[in-house]
Amino acid sequence: MRILVSENKIQRRVGELAALINRDYAGRRLLVLGILKGSLIFLADLVRRIRVPLRYEVVVISSYRDGTEPGAVDFYGELPQAEPDEAILVVEDIIDTGQTMSKLRRWLDSHYNRSVGLCVMLDKQGRRNNVVELDYVGFTLETNDFLVGYGLDYAGGMRNLPFIAALEEGETE
Ligand code: IMP
Ligand code: MG
Repeated sequence: MRILVSENKIQRRVGELAALINRDYAGRRLLVLGILKGSLIFLADLVRRIRVPLRYEVVVISSYRDGTEPGAVDFYGELPQAEPDEAILVVEDIIDTGQTMSKLRRWLDSHYNRSVGLCVMLDKQGRRNNVVELDYVGFTLETNDFLVGYGLDYAGGMRNLPFIAALEEGETE
């Protein structure tokens, strides 16, 4: 595998994203909605750097089954209730084709009666075919590579790598 974003770089960027969020949501209360399983590690790092009062909830969404090809998007579970005065910030690991997030956004819009912020660690633009507006982006990569680490999995594994890497030829078999 080839490391694309080092652990240091990730941690620095998480701090920068939190600073932007602290500024933008100053004086508000946040409901941070983590999309599992991919965002778990990013969520844990990010919320510990946010200084705005918050609570977090998680939603399980699955799109890739075992391999590297996008499949049908499945939603599991119920969306948590939000208090009327809570601002909602969704935390996701990666936007690839954009299919998951464009469906999820429609679901969120119909469920919560307010605009929902979106924070993603990785904006992988190589094969985007759905327009998704992102409010906070960790890193933009103009790649088609299949990425692992920092929450991203290949067939359930490698999520625990502290860096983000591209799988190379032969590693996906
Ligand atoms: P999209 O619907 O194509 O945007 O795919 C989004 C979901 O697919 C993400 O939430 C990830 O769970 C997964 N995904 C997309 N690209 C990758 C990747 O490079 N590595 C691991 N998972 C990925
Ligand atoms: Mg995901």
